[in-house]
Amino acid sequence: MIPKPIVKRSVELRELINQYNYRYYVLDDPSVPDAEYDRLLTELVALEKNYPELVTPDSPAQRVGAKPLDAFGEVKHVIPMLSLANAFNEDEMEVFDRRVRERLNIDVVEYAAETKLDGLAISLLYENGILTRGATRGDGTTGEDVTLNVRTIKAIPLRLMGNYPDFIEVRGEVYMSKQGFSDLNKAQKVKGEKLFANPRNAAAGSLRQLDPHITAQRPLLFFAHGIGQYEKAALPGIHIEILKKLRQWGLPVSPKTKKITGIKQCHEYYQMIGECRASLAYQIDGVVFKVNDLAQQELLGFVSRAPRWAIAYKYPPEEEITKVIDIEVQVGRTGALTPVARLEPVFVGGVTVTNATLHNEDEVRM
Ligand code: IVH
Repeated sequence: MIPKPIVKRSVELRELINQYNYRYYVLDDPSVPDAEYDRLLTELVALEKNYPELVTPDSPAQRVGAKPLDAFGEVKHVIPMLSLANAFNEDEMEVFDRRVRERLNIDVVEYAAETKLDGLAISLLYENGILTRGATRGDGTTGEDVTLNVRTIKAIPLRLMGNYPDFIEVRGEVYMSKQGFSDLNKAQKVKGEKLFANPRNAAAGSLRQLDPHITAQRPLLFFAHGIGQYEKAALPGIHIEILKKLRQWGLPVSPKTKKITGIKQCHEYYQMIGECRASLAYQIDGVVFKVNDLAQQELLGFVSRAPRWAIAYKYPPEEEITKVIDIEVQVGRTGALTPVARLEPVFVGGVTVTNATLHNEDEVRM
């Protein structure tokens, strides 16, 4: 028998930790210093170690712990995970809006406007409020079972809060902040391990580790941007309202998400996000507009692998100007020579660039 005060304390600790997590990752409004959070977590880990009968799969002390896998299992997506059509300029954006209006036979469209995070798409299954499966998108039909890795991401709740459906698949993006990416690369360099090219690669590489202990050490974050399958639940018929529900259940949703009306507001949103893009904590490569009304989404349907009710309006890649200080020639192991430019340090796309290889002569000539 476990002493009653111990049981009580473990329940209390789980609730506190989950609450602090919610304040930190969902509300972006931390309520305790990190040290206090760590102290409570350490206390819970110790309790569960001394009294293994206390352990519940959704305990925040059980995020890591599993042994490395030999390979990932396969997950079939009952509802395919699609991609988005792109618009690269105002004209293409207007063509999209006109098609939507014509097909729906309406004058103005209400959209959900979101940022397009540069991460990787993930599907999270919650059964009776408990996270039971995490899967990558893969080819859209079949993904990889990355449940053990997903469980290590603190921004992803192991248990939902409030009035959630019995069965629901949440979809969103796993990503790394610019700061997290730069810290990770610094640590990789110190350890003599390979550097990641950008936050997207770093997030993908971190999530596709067979050893969840490695994933646990990577600064991965998550934003929900939609749902997949669900059962026996009356959910709102409006995309933005669904996102609000997700947030109530404890899932982080981008605070930039906004309801807008008509093409003019699409341009304004694109402009507004474009202006604050460089100061966001994470990389985005565009904004996404989704027809807000689910009944209208259904009328519009799909073409090939993309919905007709959504579009990604892309930004040009971030560019900066700097000075070449010197050009050195590197000799590779095979004797290959590569000219490398030493640059005046410049901050672009969330990283400080000091060197650039000049092997790609065509691009250099431009
Ligand atoms: S919605 C059917 N919303 O972009 C709608 N996707 O090219 C499919 N992405 O695989 C996704 N931010 O990984 C959606 N706010 C957002 C997104 C977003 C990033 C990614 C996602 C998807 C890809 C589509």
